[in-house]
Amino acid sequence: MAIEFELNGEIVHYHGDPRASLLNALRETYWLTGAKVVCEEGFCGACTVHVDGEAVPSCLRPIGLIANCSVTTIEGLAEPEAPHRLQTAFREHDVVQCGMCFPGMVMSLSKLLEDNPTPTREEVKHGLVGNICRCTGYERIVDAVMSLQDNSEARA
Ligand code: FES
Ligand code: FES
Repeated sequence: MAIEFELNGEIVHYHGDPRASLLNALRETYWLTGAKVVCEEGFCGACTVHVDGEAVPSCLRPIGLIANCSVTTIEGLAEPEAPHRLQTAFREHDVVQCGMCFPGMVMSLSKLLEDNPTPTREEVKHGLVGNICRCTGYERIVDAVMSLQDNSEARA
């Protein structure tokens, strides 16, 4: 039986194994490769997507549990010609992240800003605890997020 769900604003039907991870279904059935396969154990955040408005590791979510849910991936968050404001802020602050960690960070932080448009630095750092970068620092990322607030200095 097909599993129906909404994917980046369109209704789709998945016909494969319901035990497959959402991550693998996204990549191998729908060719949405923005969510990355890294740890596959829920630790790194590279596979983060939004499911019904929550940022979740798609590697831990069986596709069978996605029926009737709404899924947004990094591909559906914004358009290349109209990037999400986080992506613009990252670029403006020279946040140089690799393609493995960056999509998951954007998905986690976009959810954070949706829930809390004026986070403190500590709240931004807390919002990134599930997204691991093994090679750069996190300070510029936090700077970029804080720059989206008019009162970033006051809340630093
Ligand atoms: S690949 Fe899903 S959390 Fe690491
Ligand atoms: S820049 Fe992506 S893991 Fe460090």
